[in-house]
Amino acid sequence: MKAVVVALGKVGLPLAAQIAGAGHEVVGCDIDPRVVELVNRGEPPFPGEADLDTVLRAAVDAGRLRAVADTTAAVAEGADLVVAVPPLYVDADAKPDWGALDAVTDAIARGLQPGTTVVIETTVPVGTTRNRIAPRLEAGSGLQGEQDFYTAFSPERVFSGRVFQDLATYPKLVGGLSAAGEQRCAELYASFLTAEIWAMQGAEAAELAKLAETTYRDVNIALANELARAADAIGVDVEHVITASNSQPFSHIHKPGVAVGGHCIPVYPRFFLEGAPGAQIPRVARDVNEAMPAYAVDLLGEVEGHTVLVLGVAYRGGVKEDAFSGAASLREVLKRRGARPVFADPLYSDDELRAHGYEPWDGAHADAAIVQADHAEYASLTSAHLPGVARIVDGRGVLDASLFPGVPVKRIGRP
Ligand SMILES: NC(=O)c1ccc[n+]([C@@H]2O[C@H](COP(=O)([O-])OP(=O)(O)OC[C@H]3O[C@@H](n4cnc5c(N)ncnc54)[C@H](O)[C@@H]3O)[C@@H](O)[C@H]2O)c1
Repeated sequence: MKAVVVALGKVGLPLAAQIAGAGHEVVGCDIDPRVVELVNRGEPPFPGEADLDTVLRAAVDAGRLRAVADTTAAVAEGADLVVAVPPLYVDADAKPDWGALDAVTDAIARGLQPGTTVVIETTVPVGTTRNRIAPRLEAGSGLQGEQDFYTAFSPERVFSGRVFQDLATYPKLVGGLSAAGEQRCAELYASFLTAEIWAMQGAEAAELAKLAETTYRDVNIALANELARAADAIGVDVEHVITASNSQPFSHIHKPGVAVGGHCIPVYPRFFLEGAPGAQIPRVARDVNEAMPAYAVDLLGEVEGHTVLVLGVAYRGGVKEDAFSGAASLREVLKRRGARPVFADPLYSDDELRAHGYEPWDGAHADAAIVQADHAEYASLTSAHLPGVARIVDGRGVLDASLFPGVPVKRIGRP
C-alpha cells in the first residue's frame, strides 16, 4: 500500500511510523520545515512518545517513510490511503477555527487521484466529514465522491506518550460515507493495525463515538469533583470514598483535580453540544470543571498581595502541551484576587513560559503554591525546593506531605 499521512504531530507522526513499520510506503506531510527535516533525519520533533525514536528511525532507514512539505504533490503521486490528522484549533468557547483542516483538505483535493481513500482522524463535530470534508474534496479535485474516491472518518483515540500501545489495543473505529467506502477503509487499516477494526456504519456514528467517549470523561470527572467538594465540606477523604465505590463493578468514578485541560476533554463536549444544543449534563459538567481552579484558590485562602507559585503549566504530567491548561485559569483567578502568580514547569524553559504568557518563577521566595500538573518530579519535592512557601494546595494529590514539615498541604477532597 502507498499511504500519505498529513500533519506529523503527536498523533500523525507515530501513525505514519506505524504504517511504515507494517511494510507500507509512506509519505508524511507537514507545513513546518523543522518537522520535515527532523523526520527525514529519523529524529522525533517532540519529546515524550514511547518508542517513537526507534520505530521512526527504523522506518526512515528502511526507506519506507519520508517527509515532505507539499501535501498536494505527495497526494498527486497516487496513494491508496490518505490520512489527515491536523489540529482543529478552537477559541476560548471551543468554536472551531477551520483554517488548518480546510487548508489540509484543499491541499489533498488539488492532488487527489481516482482510487484513493481519504480518512480524517482529527476529532470533529458530527456531520463534518459528510458536509464539509467530502464536498471540499469533490470541489477541489473535480472527482465524484464515493465513486472516484472514498471519504471516511476514523477517530484517533490514543493517549500522547503511549500511542503505539493504544494503537495495538483499542478497537479502531471507522465510518464511511458509503458502505463500500467504509469497507475499503476497514481493509486498509487492517493492513497496518493488529487491533480490531470496528465498522461503525456511517461517518456520523464514528464522529459521535469519539465525542461520546470524551464527553463521558468530562462528565465523570465533574462528578468526581462534586464528590470531592462534598468530602471537603464534611471532612472525609474522597479518594478513599471513590476507591470504595469503585470496588463494586458498576461504579467507575474518575479522579477529582484542579482542572481538566488539554485540547481534547474540555473541548469535545462543546463539539457535542453544538450538535445537541438541548443536552444538559455535558453543559453542567463543563461549568463544574471550569470552576475547579477558583475552588483550588479558595482552598489556599487569602492571596491578595501574595506571590503564588503554580507548579505545572502543562495540562497534565509528562506532556509538553498547555492547550486549555488549568495554569491559564489559575493565572486569571489569582490575578483577579490581587495575587502575583509565578510559574514553573520541568518541561518548559523560562523563555517558553514567557512566550506562553506565564511569568517564570525565579526560584526565590513565594508565599504559597498550587500543584497544577502531576509531573513525576513533584513526588520528591521538599520544602527546601520551595523557599518561603507556607501553604500548598496539591491539586493533583502528587506531593509527599511528609516532606513539607510545618507546611499545610491541602489536597482536593482530602483532609
Ligand atoms: N495529542 C493527542 O493526545 C490526541 C489524541 C487523540 C486525538 N487527537 C487528534 O489529533 C489532532 C492533532 O493533534 P496533535 O496532538 O497531533 O497535534 P500537534 O499540534 O502535535 O501537531 C499538529 C501538526 O499539524 C501540522 N500542520 C498544521 N497545519 C498543517 C497543514 N495545513 N498541512 C500540514 N501540516 C499541518 C503542524 O505543523 C503540526 O506538526 C487533534 O486535533 C485531535 O483531533 C490528538
